Amino acid sequence: RIVEATGVVPAVNQIELHPGFQQREARSYHEAHKIVTQSWSPLGQGKDLLTRAPIVRVADKHRRSPAQVVIAWHLAHGLAVIPKASDLEHLSDNFAARDLILDEEDMAAIDALDSPVGRLGPDPRSFGG
Ligand SMILES: NC(=O)c1ccc[n+]([C@@H]2O[C@H](COP(=O)([O-])OP(=O)(O)OC[C@H]3O[C@@H](n4cnc5c(N)ncnc54)[C@H](OP(=O)(O)O)[C@@H]3O)[C@@H](O)[C@H]2O)c1
Repeated sequence: RIVEATGVVPAVNQIELHPGFQQREARSYHEAHKIVTQSWSPLGQGKDLLTRAPIVRVADKHRRSPAQVVIAWHLAHGLAVIPKASDLEHLSDNFAARDLILDEEDMAAIDALDSPVGRLGPDPRSFGG
């Protein structure tokens, strides 16, 4: 809507995005217009997502935490990811995700978690009204 109304293409669009809600349509629009996609609530707010079986399986396979797997998934998709952590161990765990490389099978298992009803936060189309 910004592009249509103003002709200005934003550099970055921060939208809710995690394996349970993958925003494929927005991502492909961003890609076509060279807009960086930045994931908000990238860990699914640190709730159920981190206990989903495919994520735990990939984490066990690499001997890493589920949060690291989710961060590595964002990075492998070229997404800008800024997880929130107030716990110091979570913070260092998250930084250490940078060297985790997921293979095609891992990515496919996590890609399959996408759901049209996976939104956790407010919908910007109805935000405020
Ligand atoms: N633009 C927007 O409208 C909007 C909306 C929502 C969020 N955001 C942004 O998105 C970012 C984070 O979103 P969010 O706070 O909703 O959720 P999030 O990053 O998806 O999840 C944060 C939760 O995950 C936990 N966590 C972090 N690292 C972990 C780890 N290694 N293992 C297990 N649990 C871990 C945190 O616990 P601890 O705190 O205990 O470490 C916290 O409860 C922030 O930068 C925020 O500003 C933007």
